[in-house]
Amino acid sequence: MTPQLIQIHHADPAAIRAELIAGLSAPVATISPKYLYDALGARLFAAITELPEYYPTRTEAAIFAAHAEEMARRLPAFDTFVDLGAGNCEKAARLFAPFQVKRYVAVDISVDYLRDSLDILRRQHPHLALMGIGLDFSAALQLPAEVGSGPRLMFYPGSSIGNFTPDEALAFLRQVHAAAQGGGLLIGVDLVKPVAVLEAAYDDPLQVTAAFNRNMLRHVCRLASADFSLADWRHVAFFNSVASRIEMHLEAVRDVTVRWPEGERHFAAGARIHTENSYKWRIEDFAALLETAGFRAIRHWADAQDWFAVFSAQS
Ligand code: AVJ
Repeated sequence: MTPQLIQIHHADPAAIRAELIAGLSAPVATISPKYLYDALGARLFAAITELPEYYPTRTEAAIFAAHAEEMARRLPAFDTFVDLGAGNCEKAARLFAPFQVKRYVAVDISVDYLRDSLDILRRQHPHLALMGIGLDFSAALQLPAEVGSGPRLMFYPGSSIGNFTPDEALAFLRQVHAAAQGGGLLIGVDLVKPVAVLEAAYDDPLQVTAAFNRNMLRHVCRLASADFSLADWRHVAFFNSVASRIEMHLEAVRDVTVRWPEGERHFAAGARIHTENSYKWRIEDFAALLETAGFRAIRHWADAQDWFAVFSAQS
């Protein structure tokens, strides 16, 4: 059986260009972190997850390895496991056995990312019903009827929720609550910790994160026909303790003018483009957020240092 693939909408190149130019022209120049992930950016992120300084991926994996059986016992019954931002589907696949998954729906921005991953899964799990959905759920989480009417386990690992401001995170979690259809949620959340640990994770000595951030400019040059020169920009990352977030910026190392069709912007040396926020939560604050979003039976599992937490909840 070939997995069913559904693309909800195709990103329109003119709309992408307009969004990028609006961000570059704004009082505080910004580029959305979704543009970090062209093909090379996805590989650079995969490299980041292997860095000793980048603790989230391996800490979360260790939490699942230690507690998946107990999580499965605590979660409500569900028909369908819905993986938000599935990518290579590897995190979910490790839960198929302990969670006794029968139907798996992978959601990512483009079905192109999912085709190969689902083909591999189909061979490894011939009895699993598989579906791939191409959807930018950061805008609106509207799953098609093909996903089915029964309860769902919504899976959102990796602390991707950290890219949302607290207000956006609440709005998003309310949508996840509705989409669960009486099932549950399993979500990975990065926690507040000593600033030196946080900053090393986002400004590593090998400078892989710097390459990941700066690579975004190559992507923007292609999408918006802009003329960024990478040598003009350096990676800046720091913890903003007031907002409880890591901020990533690109900083002009000299006076530069960036041009695109029908426009340009001058950046004085030291001026910055804001490229990503990665919010860090306190356990009690995230539990309260889940409750406000409508979830109940909220539980969490963390590592010994409380660096990362996996929350489960019922919708
Ligand atoms: C994929 C959003 C979870 O915020 O840690 C890694 C992205 N940025 N290093 C994160 C990221 C810089 C990552 N998330």
